[in-house]
Amino acid sequence: MKTYVTEMKPMIFFFKINTARKSIMLFRKAITTDIPQLIKFRKILLCHEDNSSMDETFRKYFVSSLSDKSLVVWVADDDGVVVSTVCFCLCRFAPRFENPSGLVAYMANVFTIPNYRRQGIVSKLVSEAIDDLKTQGIRKILLHSSDMAKPLYEILGFVEGKNYMSINI
Ligand SMILES: CC(C)(COP(=O)(O)OP(=O)(O)OC[C@H]1O[C@@H](n2cnc3c(N)ncnc32)[C@H](O)[C@@H]1OP(=O)(O)O)[C@@H](O)C(=O)NCCC(=O)NCCS
Repeated sequence: MKTYVTEMKPMIFFFKINTARKSIMLFRKAITTDIPQLIKFRKILLCHEDNSSMDETFRKYFVSSLSDKSLVVWVADDDGVVVSTVCFCLCRFAPRFENPSGLVAYMANVFTIPNYRRQGIVSKLVSEAIDDLKTQGIRKILLHSSDMAKPLYEILGFVEGKNYMSINI
């Protein structure tokens, strides 16, 4: 696969041409039309895939947090279908000497649908997201890992802490 970068204001995106599938994979920030898929992935991760009782709560959360930019979501989009997501909840703490902005990102909702796994998709989303987060003055990302994802995060440079994994970026 070959990676390209282009810019279509206000959305920067990257894409790979998948020669095997003859499709184009976009790596971009989520927009409001992605919300149903974000909700679906969240419910799978919470083991409530068939439970719709919280759908409206999730929808309101994604609408408001995407619009006030307290949430940044990167998605991989294969010909119009979102196949992977990585979310970053942005929190502002008091400034520290090593983090003057006080901004910290909490990474969550990391998910790739099964038949797209082990193709480097989350790795690519996280590396593009890190470059983007740095431009916003963010110097630290925290996460709680599933057992399945731990090797991935270690490869990406996250370090196991007492209560969470983190990376200084
Ligand atoms: C974990 C998950 C997000 C990985 O997504 P992905 O797009 O397949 O990840 P990548 O292809 O970028 O993985 C890159 C590398 O990480 C490591 N890795 C990824 N998944 C792994 C797994 N299940 N077991 C061991 N190593 C793994 C591998 O070294 C992999 O490189 P390789 O395929 O060349 O060996 C995906 O399997 C998933 O959605 N799992 C279920 C939900 C989940 O656990 N989410 C994390 C919540 S914290």
